[in-house]
Amino acid sequence: MFGKKSCSGEKVDETAVEAETAREPQAGAAPIQVPKPVVHSAAAKAEKAEQYYSLKKEIFSALIATIDVAALSNMEGEQARNEIGAIINDIVAAKKAGISLAEQNELLSDICNDILGYGPLEPLLARDDIADIMVNGASHVFIEVGGKVQETGVRFRDNEQLLNICQRIVSQVGRRVDESSPICDARLADGSRVNVIAPPLAIDGPSLTIRKFKKEKLKLDQLVRFGSISPEGAEILKIIGRVRCNVLISGGTGSGKTTLLNCLTGYIDPGERIITCEDAAELQLQQPHVVRLETRPPNIEGQGEITMRALVKNCLRMRPERIIVGEVRGPEAFDLLQAMNTGHDGSMGTLHANSPREAISRIEAMITMGGHSLPAKAIREMLVSSVDVIVQAARLRDGSRRITHITEVLGMEGDVVTTQDLFVYDIQGEDEKGNLIGRHRSTGIGRPAFWDRARYYGEEARLAAALDAAEMKVAA
Ligand SMILES: Nc1ncnc2c1ncn2[C@@H]1O[C@H](COP(=O)(O)OP(=O)(O)O)[C@@H](O)[C@H]1O
Ligand SMILES: [Mg+2]
Repeated sequence: MFGKKSCSGEKVDETAVEAETAREPQAGAAPIQVPKPVVHSAAAKAEKAEQYYSLKKEIFSALIATIDVAALSNMEGEQARNEIGAIINDIVAAKKAGISLAEQNELLSDICNDILGYGPLEPLLARDDIADIMVNGASHVFIEVGGKVQETGVRFRDNEQLLNICQRIVSQVGRRVDESSPICDARLADGSRVNVIAPPLAIDGPSLTIRKFKKEKLKLDQLVRFGSISPEGAEILKIIGRVRCNVLISGGTGSGKTTLLNCLTGYIDPGERIITCEDAAELQLQQPHVVRLETRPPNIEGQGEITMRALVKNCLRMRPERIIVGEVRGPEAFDLLQAMNTGHDGSMGTLHANSPREAISRIEAMITMGGHSLPAKAIREMLVSSVDVIVQAARLRDGSRRITHITEVLGMEGDVVTTQDLFVYDIQGEDEKGNLIGRHRSTGIGRPAFWDRARYYGEEARLAAALDAAEMKVAA
């Protein structure tokens, strides 16, 4: 097969520049080798797009009829591209299609992407500013940029082409997607996570979701710069990571949980033995002594699955000092709590919940659903004795991502788990552009429950200073 770079010849670069002038600017777009897709925001462009797609379809069919696809796949990328280019030239000339050189070059690169790579997805995959790509059938492709979801003008020829591309993606991890196995998780070569759900389950054509892998993970000081957390809040998070608090990071989809977990792991002492368990390796730990584990989905015959629970259980036999679970979503919650409870202080995990309170009940539900016939109170007691801090991440309605709570789990009052917020984010209003105005606020707790832990690790002065600074800010 050809690599994704197969269409990155110099010639394309020129066309990219040429074609660029005819396109809408894309803020923050990374420099890429292939021309970007036309993003049609105005309805007036729709007709032109329609013409382009029908021309492309025509030329594509003619090309497929002419070309020896098998021979093409034995060629180098550049050579294959030249081959395709030559044939397209002939077809365009024969058809007297009357298109400009720029349009013809755009066509060439589009078709190259189709045949040699991930088709219309290529330009989106090449952009670094995109967090998610969501394809709902052939003609609706959405992206998330800067916390906001927008529709692109990118389209697939038809659902069949889309399904073929899905197939190409999942075949790389030895899977298949079709009517008999219409749900599939996979990963791109660059680490991006992919989910495909095909008809008949997806009614309007294959649905493809890609969470793009970011090589450059955001650092805590960047989160401070973005206003996701205040400097004092960040300082407290650093201390929480360093003094081995057991932490749950809670948040919705795409709220920044994994990013935050990755940040927190940055403050772990380099001498500690860390074991990470993930569905798809995303975390990038800087420490030298790390074992990275990944779950495995069942194969085509439905066998060989290794669950998160199996991984976490196995961790305990690997003499870990800290266990980091990428995403807790099932019965492994029990094993993680147990690990936290049995001398693996400083373990961490993320889970899907919209508030620290909800995170607590989610854990309880995950354990109950996992078949543990423990009374609710016993589960809560277990949670109280294992989890120290819940950090809540959220993607707010203006697209910004914020850390909205740093909350301690304190104990039990009767049947109820008691918590205390150290830090919260208050929304105060909205500016004329619809951006939310708010601030991080210390709740004035002078002595968090993890104070003794901080003292044990010699961090109490730093903690006191951070809390003082935060409170001064509130008073001001
Ligand atoms: N505080 C933040 N500010 C801006 N972008 C962020 C922030 N946190 C995360 N992101 C970006 O949001 C996307 C989703 O983040 P991720 O941590 O993977 O979310 P989750 O694990 O909650 O699904 C990534 O592209 C990431 O770079
Ligand atoms: Mg995540």
